[in-house]
This record gives sequence, structure tokens and C-alpha cells, in this order.
Amino acid sequence: MTLFIATNNAHKVKELSELFPGTLLRTPADAGIEFDHDETEDTFLGNSLGKARALFGLVKAPVLADDSGLCVDALGGAPGVRSARYGSPDDGRTVLSAREKNELLLRQMTGRRDRTCRFVCAMTLMLSEHRFVSVQETCEGRLLESPRGMEGFGYDPVFFLPGEGLSMAELTLERKNALSHRGRAAARILAVLASLPD
Ligand code: IMP
Repeated sequence: MTLFIATNNAHKVKELSELFPGTLLRTPADAGIEFDHDETEDTFLGNSLGKARALFGLVKAPVLADDSGLCVDALGGAPGVRSARYGSPDDGRTVLSAREKNELLLRQMTGRRDRTCRFVCAMTLMLSEHRFVSVQETCEGRLLESPRGMEGFGYDPVFFLPGEGLSMAELTLERKNALSHRGRAAARILAVLASLPD
């Protein structure tokens, strides 16, 4: 099966390729399509569905869309749906680097004892305009005081998994995919795909 994925984020593409081994994943760029969907909704679910609908409208073929981010309890759930645009001075036209976003987040958390947080991933499989399934999964953790590890992307270096005793950026891709918000959401989408008639 071929699925168009509603992202041009190379890190997400790499993770998704491992998570969907029997599926040919094609990015909008692979198909020569310019795709930059504005994330206007205030929920991961709304944005994931919005991305899926927008890409489906362009390719008219099955689509997989992921909207994800980090929610920190002591910050009222921020960066949340704004994780990609976090700290942007002009609401996303200028985007901070991952390192700058992590530094900003750790500064905002200075002196805070409650460091619980979670990664969230809403994933939508859209088979046709009126046939789709969306799931949302989480991965619970604690915000570190300083970054650790070189793997992964985004907020991985500041996200600590107590059960592993490691940051997300210290995990192999295989281990991250087994535990992560995206890996858990993908497992549920895979179960849906397996249940579809040929
Ligand atoms: P979006 O889903 O394209 O809106 O981007 C989500 C943003 O959340 C990314 O740019 C990252 O900053 C962050 N994010 C999402 N998933 C992960 C992850 O697995 N690890 C680290 N950061 C993530």
C-alpha cells in the first residue's frame, strides 16, 4: 500500500518509515507538491485532521497525517499545539531552532519543581474524503534541567523517561519508536490497516 504523509519533516519521515515497514510512504515533495498547511486549530486532533484533509484534497489518494508536540503541566500545557512555533517572535514566520526552543523552555521552567510533561501525537489515516480514522496517543515523562543525548529531534534532549532512566535523545530509533507517542499512535493505525478488507 502507498500512503502520502502530510509532512516534510525529515525526522518524522524517518520514524514513520520504520513504523510502517510494509507501506510505501510518499512525502508531498516526492510527488512534486508544495505542502505547507497552516496549523490553525487549537487541538492536535483538529490539526491532524486538517492536514489530512488538505493533503487528500491535493493527491486524492490515502493519506497519513501526524500532529504532535510537547505539553508541560507547569506551563498549562504549553508549548502544546504551538510546539513547532514555540518562542517565534512573529507567530511562526520565523521559527527558532530546536536548541533555541529547548533553551527557552528550560528558562521558563527555572525553579519549577513540577516537571511532569508528555509528548502527544494525533494521527489520522484518511482513505477517502469521507472515510478516515484518527487516534491520539501520549508518552509520559519529566522535563530535564539540561539537555541530554544526540538522537531524535525537537524536544527529545530535554524529555526524560523515568522507566528508561534516559532522555528521549539517548534512545535508539527502535527504542524511541517502541515507547513514543508517535510509535503508539502508529501501532493503532496499523491495527486499523490490518483490519481493512483487501
Ligand atoms: P508539527 O506536528 O509539525 O506541528 O510539529 C510538532 C513539533 O513538536 C516538532 O517541530 C517538534 O518540535 C515537536 N515534536 C513532535 N514530536 C516530537 C518528538 O518525537 N520528539 C521531539 N519533539 C517532537
